[in-house]
Amino acid sequence: MCGIVGYVGSRPAAPILLEALKRLEYRGYDSAGMATVSRKLFVKKDRGRIADIDRRLKLAEMPGNLGVGHTRWATHGEPSRVNAHPHLDNSGKIAVVHNGIIENYFELKKFLQGHGYRFTSQTDTEVIPNLIHHFLKRSGDLEGSVRQAAKRLRGSFALAVISEEEPGKIIAVRQDSPLIIGLGEGEVFLASDIPAILQHTNRMLVLENGEMAVLTPDDVSIKKFGSGATVKREPMLVQWTAEMAEKEGYPHFTLKEIFQQPDAVRDTLRVPPEELKRLARFLLRAKRVYLIACGTSYHAALVAKYALAKLAGFPVEVVISSEFGEIGNMDEGTAVLAITQSGETADTLKAVEAARAAGARVACLTNVVGSSITRMSDLVCYTYAGPEVSVVATKTFAAQVAYLLRLAVQLAEARGRSGPRSKRLAAGLGSMPEIMRKVLVEVEPRVKSLARGFLSAEHIYLIGRGVGYPLVLEGALKIKEITYIHSEGMPAGELKHGTLALIERGTPVIAVVTPGGMRMKMVSNVEEVKARGAQVTAIADNGKDLEGHVDELISIPHTEELLSPLLFIIPLQLLAYHITVGRGQDPDRPRSLAKSVTVE
Ligand code: F6R
Repeated sequence: MCGIVGYVGSRPAAPILLEALKRLEYRGYDSAGMATVSRKLFVKKDRGRIADIDRRLKLAEMPGNLGVGHTRWATHGEPSRVNAHPHLDNSGKIAVVHNGIIENYFELKKFLQGHGYRFTSQTDTEVIPNLIHHFLKRSGDLEGSVRQAAKRLRGSFALAVISEEEPGKIIAVRQDSPLIIGLGEGEVFLASDIPAILQHTNRMLVLENGEMAVLTPDDVSIKKFGSGATVKREPMLVQWTAEMAEKEGYPHFTLKEIFQQPDAVRDTLRVPPEELKRLARFLLRAKRVYLIACGTSYHAALVAKYALAKLAGFPVEVVISSEFGEIGNMDEGTAVLAITQSGETADTLKAVEAARAAGARVACLTNVVGSSITRMSDLVCYTYAGPEVSVVATKTFAAQVAYLLRLAVQLAEARGRSGPRSKRLAAGLGSMPEIMRKVLVEVEPRVKSLARGFLSAEHIYLIGRGVGYPLVLEGALKIKEITYIHSEGMPAGELKHGTLALIERGTPVIAVVTPGGMRMKMVSNVEEVKARGAQVTAIADNGKDLEGHVDELISIPHTEELLSPLLFIIPLQLLAYHITVGRGQDPDRPRSLAKSVTVE
């Protein structure tokens, strides 16, 4: 996730772009840059936070009344000056800023190299200005060339394009990444999100997928880039305050990020198959494989353990990073997959260091390009959840699970075990973002009202089986982190080995009844706690059979068992969120916790 901005009007563009970029830093902050036009094209960009780059390069002093800017959250290529946006074509006259991921950039790059184009960055974006230039050379028509280029791009992209040869306009394009146009008096603004430009205007046009727009100081014309058909759209009046706009109208980043999960999963599923094949080969070469992680990432690793065993018959050991040094059996035959959204967790970095020292090979799965873990790993893999602002991990968990499920499918294939189940899973993954979106909208009001019943709870027990087990661990972690209520997740089968002694009249129990072979056993566990007077809330796959047997029921649409974590985690996260808000606490800033835990 990156942030892009644009301005065309009669005022100096640079200070407006700079201010807008600062307001978008929550979308990315590893590097930034701007391009303006004043007779010719001016470009400044670098690695680092925007304020520091401005101090060094004097961004606000760039000349011209038109320009574009970018704040980056790296996806392809580490944070560096050369990978920062804007990117130029080989003629140096066209500048492009891009938010999103170009899936077919490799093919496009080869095609352009065949036509003599040279590339200097490791980004997917650099193909775009060159592709535009390729068409422009023949037609001389910038707008038409942008359209031709957009038609050839696959993936997600919000683009702003300027050229020194047509200095009065910005061309904007949108597919699966947001883009908002702000209408002023004799000036037009462009941004990934509303807060970047809200101080200038509240008259906004939202660009939809498949559309492009030409922005000049007095006019905005929109068309479909596929068919070329003109689009008529009335501006809307945005009533948000700047703070509300940063959270896209959500009261907290935590809730915004819970609702961003379908996009995080969709973007992560765009990882090219070659990357998963590489990781599968890496793991298959080893005598033993460890997945190591902390906190939420550890729970994602546990989901992976079930998926890898069930789908690919591929056993792995999952170890908490801080314990790994004590029990990891490491030598040259060992492969370690370290999972860490931040890439900076000290316990995981230490474990990786120890593994490498013992001769083990290390791969990592992280959400932060260029983070410390990437420099310590033999193979680097990424989730594409975008920056997570809230301290508690939500969308990065969903992205990790999606990635690891794809890995399971890949390993099943590589081991000749890709039967109907893995085919169903592979097909089902593609439709998960849409189903997640539906579940979010459907369950939130119900969870919000159920949360009232937990406000004064002292203990909450969560039980699950199979993939439901890591989910209850994750649900309990979310609840304790932000509500400060003691909560404990456990395998439902373990109840009778001790915890049942704590269940008495009114004890809150959340039963996570996921689909699959263990479902009936879970239903028996529900009866078991019910018989001891527990107040049971069941989150159940197609829960009709539980009606009347539990106190409260949240029914989840039926899916393949291994896909169910992507749906069942939603009510658990929402419950933690709404209990927290109901208790008058701030979910975005839980006490005593930090987003990156850089101490052992
Ligand atoms: C939970 C949470 C933490 C992290 C843990 C590991 O909401 O945020 O438990 O999951 O600190 O962090 P990463 O994944 O960055 O290594």
